[in-house]
Amino acid sequence: MKDIKILAIESSCDETAAAVVKNGREMLSNTIYSQIALHTLYGGVVPEIASRKHIEKINYVIKGALDEAGCTFDDLDAIAVTYGPGLVGALLVGVAEAKAISYARKLPLVGVHHIEGHIAANYIEHKDLEPPFMCLVVSGGHTHLVIVRDYNKFEIIGKTHDDAAGEAFDKVARAVGLGYPGGPKVDKCAKNGRADAIAFPRGHVGSNIYDFSFSGLKSAVLNYLNSCRMKQGLDGNVIYSSKTDRPDFDPFELVDPDENITVADVTASFQAAVVDVLVTHTVEAAGQYGFKQVAMAGGVASNSALREAMKNACEAKGIKLYYPSPILCTDNAAMIGCAAYYEFISGARSGLDLNAVPGLKLGER
Ligand code: KG4
Ligand code: ZN
Repeated sequence: MKDIKILAIESSCDETAAAVVKNGREMLSNTIYSQIALHTLYGGVVPEIASRKHIEKINYVIKGALDEAGCTFDDLDAIAVTYGPGLVGALLVGVAEAKAISYARKLPLVGVHHIEGHIAANYIEHKDLEPPFMCLVVSGGHTHLVIVRDYNKFEIIGKTHDDAAGEAFDKVARAVGLGYPGGPKVDKCAKNGRADAIAFPRGHVGSNIYDFSFSGLKSAVLNYLNSCRMKQGLDGNVIYSSKTDRPDFDPFELVDPDENITVADVTASFQAAVVDVLVTHTVEAAGQYGFKQVAMAGGVASNSALREAMKNACEAKGIKLYYPSPILCTDNAAMIGCAAYYEFISGARSGLDLNAVPGLKLGER
């Protein structure tokens, strides 16, 4: 069979990315221009700045991906692009670019769902992984427990009722003064703390046992920090601000000197509560639905405590666990090229009327 090479573009949030993927599983290049340093100044992603940066960088990133793969446009079989979900202005940059290339080079166009891409990131490094399997998708915008029935067939069996797991990490990071992006900073800080220092609540929601809720946990952390400040005679309401990194951040700073609790203890205890819920739900669901393969996807899947706890829980149940390398967990275009391949061979094509769909649901086209 002829090789299929796809140029993929990803611009749904704050990474401008392009990649060339061969036959869905072989990453020939993966170029990412990260805007993180820029948004750090504001304590989070500023949508208009993200769109403007995408416009500025996208052609260079695409050229970089083609050069690294040793390809020209003539070697390509299709062009793929994330068209949702994400920030509308950011998505539009990638979508317009992909349509222009498709039109100019007469290449088939494949619009890809961002979360389908995150799940597909697992196929790049795990050649043995094939559907069906259970996948925990944990990103900045999504917390989904998904049955991957086939490469392009998904069933969501659990989702968050409020904040996504990554969002909770980002908010708690801000509250303790770690700044943006919160997840990796909390991960690092928590290594200096005790996960059992504070018993934060494990969120449970009514009817569906596989659903998630993280807003109660986030509030519990904020309330805890505020009460510590008030105990010390400080203003209890100034912690949760949009301030950026504290340059003097010290993980061993005492937040509650009476109890000898450090800021690292707070982050470790918060992280343990998130990880506990994610692992319990995933392993229970895998058991209930009879899956012996579990995968993780999305930025939070690079969290070291989550990887460790999920590995132990899966091993205990005889489940094989898969997750991508950290660079393929966070936003990238290789994952989009991988998902696009399976859409492409199943016959999916997008027209030149493809538009950005900020609230696109998984499984919708
Ligand atoms: O998948 P992703 O790059 O973008 C979205 O589609 O949202 O995920 C970004 C999220 C952010 O909330 C970030 O704080 C979180 O993933 N994240 C982490 C870690 N690395 C990234 N959360 C916890 N631990 C990490 N090591
Ligand atoms: Zn993402």
